[in-house]
Amino acid sequence: KGQFYTMAHEFPPLKNDLVLRTAWGQNVERAPVWIMRQAGRYLPEYHEAKGNRDFFECCRDPEVASTLTLQPIERFAGLLDASIIFSDILVIPQAMGMTVEMVDKKGPHFPDPLKSPDDGQYSKVLNKSVDVAVELDYVYKAITLTRKKLDGRVPLIGFCGAPWTLFCYMVEGGGTKLFIESKKWIYKYPRETCAMLQKISEICVEYLALQVQAGAQMIQVFDSWAGELSPVTFKKFSEPYLAYIAQKLPAKLAEMGLDVVPMIVFPKGANQSLDAACNLGYNVVGLDWLVDPVDAVKIRGDRKIVFQGNADPGVLYGSKESISETVKSMVEGFGGGKGGWIANLGHGITPFVKPDDLKFYLEEIKRLTSK
Ligand code: CP3
Repeated sequence: KGQFYTMAHEFPPLKNDLVLRTAWGQNVERAPVWIMRQAGRYLPEYHEAKGNRDFFECCRDPEVASTLTLQPIERFAGLLDASIIFSDILVIPQAMGMTVEMVDKKGPHFPDPLKSPDDGQYSKVLNKSVDVAVELDYVYKAITLTRKKLDGRVPLIGFCGAPWTLFCYMVEGGGTKLFIESKKWIYKYPRETCAMLQKISEICVEYLALQVQAGAQMIQVFDSWAGELSPVTFKKFSEPYLAYIAQKLPAKLAEMGLDVVPMIVFPKGANQSLDAACNLGYNVVGLDWLVDPVDAVKIRGDRKIVFQGNADPGVLYGSKESISETVKSMVEGFGGGKGGWIANLGHGITPFVKPDDLKFYLEEIKRLTSK
């Protein structure tokens, strides 16, 4: 097993390491930028390459996944400083034995979600021994192939969903506005909730380590539903598991004979807990657009944390003037872009954005942070 773990791939040398240097806290010549969901539905070439294939089928096919990952890198050549592997956070629940479908225009659907601790499905999922190397092998293959095809143009980011966010999907059975099931679980069955969160956390650590082994050069943990928790419940149901991942991943990588990589956490909406998020052990903390960069910088104080974000994705539906103004105030708020900040949006790019409007956003970031 040890030998398998230390097997390293040979990849072309990296030509643009700006995002990595920034994530490690170094001063830089300008702010690096990448965009959450940069491969996706707003790109006509995405629809063309996907054809009528099922979403998860695309994730499982390394050739298709790497093609989709590269599309924004090719279209916005020289304007993006990182790529993110085309996949989804819900591949972990799938690996845990749950069925997840992607319903066109509606989003993810679990036909058989976790209903209560005494429903057979809960114990089945909790007690299943998940072979993370085997179940998610297609992701590692996609990462290795993508690293080759990238030819060192920009670093490749690997990712997973945060335990809390994955748990929400596993009990809700899909997207939700009310979070009825999630709240039932945390307020009725806190112990059983924590047991499942711990199980997911352990899978996340192994999954991320294997992504790094396959070629991921930085990782991000997406806690998209962190904002549904209060400061007290965030402390109980999100924080410990995010901290567990940040603590165990470097140890696991060392054990596998691999170099550590920068780690990003994106606790979306948990802005009341931003101070706590800066102490979780991640190099980078992602911010959504409800946070004023000036306030975030104050809360950070002298801690060596890098921020990522955070313009309202909706600005890309607006005029060029609005885009420029938004970028300008963001650049000023984060201190000019010579370090301590990776530019992005405050959440994923949305469908129907015109690719040229994203291009303008990227150009403005480059222009206004290069001065
Ligand atoms: O470019 C990238 O950022 C990499 C690919 C990526 C996808 N999903 C592709 C995708 C990443 C990083 C994700 C993460 C993800 N998936 C999150 C966390 C980020 C976030 O937005 O908060 C979440 C919550 C999911 C779960 C998920 N997957 C949902 C809720 C949906 C439906 C979204 C919608 O807007 O309807 C998906 C589908 C999905 N994941 C698509 C893509 C490109 C759209 C699939 C399609 O319809 O073609």
